[in-house]
Amino acid sequence: MSSLCGLAKVETHQAIHNSVTADLDAAMRLLRSSLQAGRHSEAYELAGAILAIWSERELWHAQAEEAELYRHIPAMSALHRDHDLMAQWVTEARTALEREDTVSALVMTRLEALSILLDTHNVQELEHLRISAGGTCASPAEPG
Ligand SMILES: [Fe+2]
Ligand SMILES: [Fe+2]
Repeated sequence: MSSLCGLAKVETHQAIHNSVTADLDAAMRLLRSSLQAGRHSEAYELAGAILAIWSERELWHAQAEEAELYRHIPAMSALHRDHDLMAQWVTEARTALEREDTVSALVMTRLEALSILLDTHNVQELEHLRISAGGTCASPAEPG
């Protein structure tokens, strides 16, 4: 199976999304709890871990999509802007975290915005896949 077919298959693609969002959602819940409880050092570590998930998994996934999927399905180019915003907000959150040495309101604003954007982006991406690529990588028919 080529990379295109892997990303173009709705079930495979959805599984990638689900894996990343499950880890991000769980880490965000822990981060909010840590902040509410005033555990600032723990919150700082969690924010760093969340940004690592974003960089090493979600932004990596977005780069693979740009290279292997979006250019084959022109309608998906509308979602390119989301990837740019994700990369920008991850950079802004990491810069603020390192500069302020704490999980500031600015860091939390970016992380919460990233979560909302990712939910919407993933839904729209899978809708495009269902419409545009449903038959692109269908398995050949079994010999009769
Ligand atoms: Fe994407
Ligand atoms: Fe995706």
